[in-house]
Amino acid sequence: MAASARGILVSTAGWSPEDWIERVKRHLPGRPVIDARAPFDPAEVGYAMAWKPPRGLIATCPNLKVIFSLGAGVDHLIFDTSLPDVPVVRIVDPSLTNRMTEWIVLHALLHLRQQKAYDAQQRDRVWYDRPQPAAGDVRVGVMGLGVLGQDAAEVLVRLGFQVAGWSRTPKTVDGIETYHGADGLAAFLARTDMLVVLLPHTSDTDGILNADLFRQLPRDGALGGAVLINAGRGRLQRAGDILAALERGDLMAASLDVFEVEPLEAESPLWPHPAVYVTPHSAASSDPRFLVGYVTGQIEAYERGERLKNVIDRATGY
Ligand code: NDP
Ligand code: OXD
Repeated sequence: MAASARGILVSTAGWSPEDWIERVKRHLPGRPVIDARAPFDPAEVGYAMAWKPPRGLIATCPNLKVIFSLGAGVDHLIFDTSLPDVPVVRIVDPSLTNRMTEWIVLHALLHLRQQKAYDAQQRDRVWYDRPQPAAGDVRVGVMGLGVLGQDAAEVLVRLGFQVAGWSRTPKTVDGIETYHGADGLAAFLARTDMLVVLLPHTSDTDGILNADLFRQLPRDGALGGAVLINAGRGRLQRAGDILAALERGDLMAASLDVFEVEPLEAESPLWPHPAVYVTPHSAASSDPRFLVGYVTGQIEAYERGERLKNVIDRATGY
């Protein structure tokens, strides 16, 4: 039974699974595709395709061979201590990378081009051409120089920003200054006017975006204050510290796509804050039109005896 379990369990909390299931069936005809919302036989499950599955669900499947995260991040899986010790594959795909870079560049430009101020001027019918810093005056720092961070950094360089990046291990990336590790963080922050965050949430990065970090960002950059752009994970940040930093002037503005608790509660002062852009974890949504083929292709390759791609390291948590 263990070797022959071929079923694919689909669990997509917060997203409708139908389109995923239909597309898997079309890619792998004849294969059992199991909707996790209905009762199922766990022994039939050989593969799980999951986004924020209920804790403990995957551990019920005794014949599981591979877990596919339906996002680039895997924190929604690996913080489940019952997760079986099988390979966890994450999404690496141009559709997701391009969307993320679009969102990061959009927000970098909204802040550079003072869009909130121009929105207010339009509302009040004020014709005033504001003094405009150039992209080249602004030092962007990208925290997390992985697949997404490097792609965003490359486009920001092309737009003329001064870009640096920070990662866990040393990196060389054309056109950008690089820093790494706890020892490199202070110097990285000291030269960063616009902090772009594309880190995974791990036990090491939990709460890294806090009051102490915001205090280290310069206040005298070309934008007139520091800007935070976080599309990594909500648990990297402390919302209370962001609000206090905005109040104190350690931060001038923020763009946030991710939150400690999602959906962001209706009462959160982040929603109406005049210096904050809020988007609903939509920076780079997983699109089954592009991603089902990535997963089913990996299942077919695995069954031919080939190596899985983009398997995460359980020790580092990403
Ligand atoms: P990668 O695994 O390719 O890159 C992660 C980067 O973070 C690497 O550069 C890594 O360093 C760095 N990093 C990890 N831990 C630390 C640490 N302790 N200190 C310093 N740097 C660290 O991931 P992706 O680029 O594909 O994705 C990044 C994250 O983006 C995902 O984990 C997810 O949380 C988030 N995301 C959000 C989406 C959204 O819609 N908002 C959509 C998709 C992803 P090193 O290079 O040395 O390993
Ligand atoms: C992801 C996400 O990790 O959508 O891909 O957040």
